[in-house]
Amino acid sequence: MLSQRIQKIQPSATLAINARAIELKKQGIDIIKFGTGEPDFDTPDNIKDAAKRALDEGFTKYTAATGIPELKEAVRDKLKRDNGIECDIPNILISNGGKQALYNCFMAIIDPGDEVIIPSPYWVSYADMIAVCDGVSKFVDTTGNNFKLTAEMVKEAITPKTKALILNSPSNPTGAVIEKKEIEKIAELAFKHKFYVISDEVYEYFLYDGKKMFSIGSIPDMKDKVFTVNAVSKTYSMTGWRIGYIAGPKDVIKAMGNLQSHSTSNPCSIAQKAALEALTGPQDSVTIMANEFAKRRDYVYKEMNKLPGFKLTKPEGAFYAFPDVTKCYKGEITDSFKFT
Ligand SMILES: Cc1ncc(COP(=O)(O)O)c(C=O)c1O
Repeated sequence: MLSQRIQKIQPSATLAINARAIELKKQGIDIIKFGTGEPDFDTPDNIKDAAKRALDEGFTKYTAATGIPELKEAVRDKLKRDNGIECDIPNILISNGGKQALYNCFMAIIDPGDEVIIPSPYWVSYADMIAVCDGVSKFVDTTGNNFKLTAEMVKEAITPKTKALILNSPSNPTGAVIEKKEIEKIAELAFKHKFYVISDEVYEYFLYDGKKMFSIGSIPDMKDKVFTVNAVSKTYSMTGWRIGYIAGPKDVIKAMGNLQSHSTSNPCSIAQKAALEALTGPQDSVTIMANEFAKRRDYVYKEMNKLPGFKLTKPEGAFYAFPDVTKCYKGEITDSFKFT
């Protein structure tokens, strides 16, 4: 008999769509997969070489469960340099992808019935992770505002049970970027109403039209309130390597480390060395990818809006297109899942 907890979650919809596309391809149908979100570039050579070196040097044993110190140092320096976030080694945890960092975080802060505000449309895993922790997702619909979250929207969703708010800017799946002034106002709300902000910044380098990244964790008063989540997965085309990280208040980070030590132990030793090279080595591959994504964004925006029934809001970041297809519904196609 399955536990009640596990019965609350669904398989990842994007992975299901991916599996269906593979199945259709096998049947000889010419199909392009638009399911899972990962760059199609190879991992840069300098990163692969660092992994090979780690193997040759026998760096193949358990590491500290929360990650190797030099990778934590690289994360600390990166957060300071690129995001203006001041933190130290005890504030940082290295995990198996951004996903585990997020999961550990929800496990560490959510009690049954606690509410987490999620701007919608949202990345598939947030709500299921929260459900597994017996939390309650409170969705805030941003559709009417070109998918851009405002402080006013957040304010309306706050209750005495609000434990956290998720920010994901640039967003998966909409590509929307939250304005700096809104983030500052949201920070004031978090401060006043004493809830955490979990800022998922995995798409931070994929920004278009001169948009700039602003990390809520850089606001000094927010030190004890913000978790900044990131990963090497998207930035360096390393989705399969499974290295992510989270920075936040050290008591919670410590608790997250305890959980990780009993569940998965350390992230892969070799992948940690590769991630260290990713964060400290040459960064030109990131610019090359970001420029290519910008070109594709322009192309997709132009061409997709020519398709009958499609209406695509211009994505400002990430590498997603999230068109409104409601005008395509007819007959048995009654919702976006059936349309897909
Ligand atoms: C918004 C968002 N956060 C986190 C992740 C997880 O990334 P990782 O592969 O590092 O676990 C993804 C992956 O699709 C994502 O889109």
